[in-house]
Amino acid sequence: MPIIPMRTLLDHAAENDYGVAAFNVNNMEQIQAIMTAASDTESPVIVQASRGARGYSNDNYLRHLMLAAAELNPNIPIAMHQDHGNSPATCKSAIELGFTSVMMDGSLEEDGKTPASWDYNVSVTKQVVEMAHARGVTVEAELGCLGGIEDGQGAGLSEEEAQNHLTDPEEAGEFVRQTGCDALAVAIGTSHGAYKFKKKPTGQVLRMDVIREIHKRMPNCHMVMHGSSSVPQELIDIINSFGGEIPETYGVPVEDIQEGIKHGVRKINVDTDNRLAMTGAVRKALAEKPEEFDLRYYLKPARAAMVEVVKARMISFGQAGHAGGVPDRSLAELKTFYSASPA
Ligand code: G3H
Ligand code: 13P
Ligand code: ZN
Repeated sequence: MPIIPMRTLLDHAAENDYGVAAFNVNNMEQIQAIMTAASDTESPVIVQASRGARGYSNDNYLRHLMLAAAELNPNIPIAMHQDHGNSPATCKSAIELGFTSVMMDGSLEEDGKTPASWDYNVSVTKQVVEMAHARGVTVEAELGCLGGIEDGQGAGLSEEEAQNHLTDPEEAGEFVRQTGCDALAVAIGTSHGAYKFKKKPTGQVLRMDVIREIHKRMPNCHMVMHGSSSVPQELIDIINSFGGEIPETYGVPVEDIQEGIKHGVRKINVDTDNRLAMTGAVRKALAEKPEEFDLRYYLKPARAAMVEVVKARMISFGQAGHAGGVPDRSLAELKTFYSASPA
């Protein structure tokens, strides 16, 4: 199956009550890990690249790695997604590169840091929807701001500050109507990176009620949970027992994500858990044989550690076993679909 539009996958997930993890990639080993896990669990997948990843890997390397993944795994539906596009120009370049889905993150201004106004967000998102849908490409938008990440994409909001930038369920309906986006990323108190919560989150800080409320008002809206790594203690322990220094921290429990999936969450973004797994495996390998310098010696266990995390998420989110059921709709078919139901 060629690389498919993400909308097809989200629609299938909604019809069959499951969620799809979207894993960030920066290099060959991460793409291989995702495809091994997808093939082992027969899962459709969303592979996503941030602006930072595109810069790191170089667009052309990334594109050809993705094409290799599709060629080697003809039975796995793959959606290729731009994570946190900061402008229509970034989304345009992703579409030209062959991404079948883009996120226009107009919750922040083009600098990727300053919380943006409603009018700005609606305007850039509409622009991207028009451009993307004309090519059959899916659009994810974001309303409200996540916490975390000061030097990459993110306003650098603390756990407490993020509570003042949650998605307003009433505004969410209006935003989706005005923009025509295919999926909506919601701010519910999570943040990017490993440092999400200072203690195991309760409903006071991880606001699953916002998701339930949006779903009640818009049962057909595909919601996206960002900052959804669970930050497993066992991965932190591996890093810390081989020289790392990760302080006490908590992520988003898998059970809360499963609760979100019951209430309209269809895409779940996971990057940090894979970073933790790979870093722990590299630290362990190098500590155990300090005389080694063949990079395959430490990248193999790193890749294997990521396979385990990815498989576990695929099973928990319910996408496992669904690879064969996702319809093979082309971008051209999606383009016809959008032109028949304009935003
Ligand atoms: O948006 C956050 C993702 O984890 C990507 O992070 O911008 O460092 O590639 P990045
Ligand atoms: P984590 O940092 O929780 O993995 O979130 C990743 C993300 O939301 C990418 O857009
Ligand atoms: Zn994100």
